Amino acid sequence: MNVRRITKADFDRIVEVIDHWWGGPISTFAHPIFFYELGEHALVVEQGVDMIGFLLGFLAAGPEAAAKGEVASGAVRTGYVHLVGIHPEYRRRGVGRLLYDRFTSDSREARCVRMKAITTPGNEVSIRFHLALGWGVQEVDDYAGPGRRRIVFTKPLV
Ligand SMILES: CC(C)(COP(=O)(O)OP(=O)(O)OC[C@H]1O[C@@H](n2cnc3c(N)ncnc32)[C@H](O)[C@@H]1OP(=O)(O)O)[C@@H](O)C(=O)NCCC(=O)NCCS
Repeated sequence: MNVRRITKADFDRIVEVIDHWWGGPISTFAHPIFFYELGEHALVVEQGVDMIGFLLGFLAAGPEAAAKGEVASGAVRTGYVHLVGIHPEYRRRGVGRLLYDRFTSDSREARCVRMKAITTPGNEVSIRFHLALGWGVQEVDDYAGPGRRRIVFTKPLV
């Protein structure tokens, strides 16, 4: 297995396979902004010539750090996992862990202070996966707007 940064050809492939890999319509989550503007740290895993996993993620400060005037220091960023997917035939083989380990290590090198991801309540696989990797899990009311509860995963890097 080989992990590397994403290319436009990889992004095209993600858009083609994502609904199948997730088992339902989710392709709007693979917005092109996650390649063109926020794809610097996005990753894919290949086995031979086949892509078997991807992680769309980016580093960000967010409005709370900006409000505190901390953004200029560059040391308050979060490594944020927007979307991860593993080929259904390659699950439970450590591909997701490999992607998270690499993205976490890249985020640490870039002086991020925390990792973060979210999912919707009921995504038990995602919850078990993040727990297995040592991330904290918290259910937050109204996270995504009124009445839109989310599961928030975090991991401190300092
Ligand atoms: C969630 C997902 C990314 C996990 O990827 P993966 O490559 O299968 O995960 P790994 O093999 O690295 O698993 C690491 C650990 O997470 C836990 N885990 C992963 N999948 C699990 C499952 N289906 N049930 C219970 N625990 C699970 C296990 O503890 C596992 O370690 P183990 O296999 O040694 O027991 C993958 O299942 C996926 O793409 N799912 C569809 C999309 C999705 O739900 N995405 C949301 C993820 S944030």
